[in-house]
Amino acid sequence: MTRVFSGIQPTGHLTLGNYLGAMRRWAEVDQHRADSLFCVVDLHALTVDHDPARVRRLSRQTATLLLASGLDPEVCTVFLQSHVDEHARLSYLLECVATDGEMRRMIQYKEKAAKERARGRSVRLSLLTYPVLMAADILAYGTEEVPVGEDQAQHVELARDVAVRFNQRYGHTFVVPRTTLPQVAARVMNLQDPRRKMGKSDDSGAGVVYLLDEPDVVRKKVLRAVTDSGREVVYDRAERPGIANLLDILAACTGGNPESLAAVYDSYGSLKKDTAEAVVEVLRPVQARHRELCADPVYVEEVLRDGAEKARASARPTVDAAYRAIGLLPPVTEPSLSAVR
Ligand code: TRP
Repeated sequence: MTRVFSGIQPTGHLTLGNYLGAMRRWAEVDQHRADSLFCVVDLHALTVDHDPARVRRLSRQTATLLLASGLDPEVCTVFLQSHVDEHARLSYLLECVATDGEMRRMIQYKEKAAKERARGRSVRLSLLTYPVLMAADILAYGTEEVPVGEDQAQHVELARDVAVRFNQRYGHTFVVPRTTLPQVAARVMNLQDPRRKMGKSDDSGAGVVYLLDEPDVVRKKVLRAVTDSGREVVYDRAERPGIANLLDILAACTGGNPESLAAVYDSYGSLKKDTAEAVVEVLRPVQARHRELCADPVYVEEVLRDGAEKARASARPTVDAAYRAIGLLPPVTEPSLSAVR
């Protein structure tokens, strides 16, 4: 069965964009067609200025929401990155294969580093090496497919390069992974700035629908979405990004098609109203399941413990093989014959 791995950072509250763009597909499609692992990549949350208590809270919440969105621990593996040492173990080896030039070329590094500097903060070394840790996440599990958004494609490409290079130098050790972009790209944009992705780390919540927003908050945010000048409802991502975003969201929520939905509406107001209700309906079962899971924290902890155990068992042989291949002696577990003699 195909091995699938994806990760999500606990750096903010999960959004409608995370759900429609990735999580829903993991739950509805990927976990059933593949042997898949979904990881809350908490180590990655430490690459920029962070608050320990917040990372703890968001790690638990992100894991709970993955389960609430339909990931079934009987079918796939859900776990926290920091619970499986193999990620950090392998990351160091891959640092010995990747180059500093490769790291500095990463678009996300350049953007995030510039942001940190603009805020007068220093840039953590881990921000630079983060793509290597991500490569380790992927390669430790023999991953074939990595379902991520466009913005992560460069990092998966790096994981491929590093895998190929390691295999050439030290002998075949890693499966070479590839990105799978969702066919129907439900790319949800910020409601207040529809040229920007609806990101969980955004500073302002006004344009961002969070998975745990109350129905009335969802309605308010959607009804206040910025629209474009003009009146008729047409689907035009370049010229009418605000309306296109609403049509995309409505289509993703109702299973329709944004172009044909555009023909149904003759005013922005009615489009907004229907979109708001569609979002509320899509979030309803996720929120209900989330409430149930929060009432049973022991269950969630058990799922994460079992998930980490399964993940560890799967990663261990590959990471051990990489240690041997690169030239590290295996630890001696029993007195060797030479010592006895
Ligand atoms: N870097 C990814 C993001 O910011 C998260 C991530 C970390 C990831 N490790 C991964 C995604 C491995 C896929 C596979 O969204």
